[in-house]
Amino acid sequence: MNNYVVMSIMIAFCTFCSLAEARVKTIGHGATLNFSAEGIPEMYRSSFETMQRKCVKCHSMERTVVAISTGRAPVTGQQFNKQAVKAYGIKMMRKPNSDMNKQEIRDVVVLLNFFIDENVK
Ligand code: HEC
Repeated sequence: MNNYVVMSIMIAFCTFCSLAEARVKTIGHGATLNFSAEGIPEMYRSSFETMQRKCVKCHSMERTVVAISTGRAPVTGQQFNKQAVKAYGIKMMRKPNSDMNKQEIRDVVVLLNFFIDENVK
């Protein structure tokens, strides 16, 4: 086996580990992967509903769940920390036809920060 193969296997394995260890509760898999509504504090409920309604307009929730649980944005491969979440919120809002206002984006950003905190516990 050459080094490249060994590296690829290790990377694949580490990706799997970080997914498996993620604390944030999820349901479904693949395109139906989503955050579980279970255990979400009352104060985040309406933000959770906003996200489920608005953030699936252009792509499934899979993208967001993968970004949160692995700490990596799946499309660009950038780190997905709190700073990135804020930048993404603004980026998503500015997309044509995002159909989201500032308040909705802010709510979702706060909720995603909560998920990030849950993950590192
Ligand atoms: C108007 C369409 C649209 C809406 C609404 C939208 N997105 Fe996206 N999203 C995209 C597109 C297009 C991409 C592909 C990468 C890019 O353009 O940044 C993307 C990529 C992403 C990524 C992966 C980014 C990466 O760099 O890998 C995440 C995470 C994400 N979106 C989360 C969200 C969240 C959370 C919401 C709700 C606040 C949302 N999206 C709403 C269009 C949208």
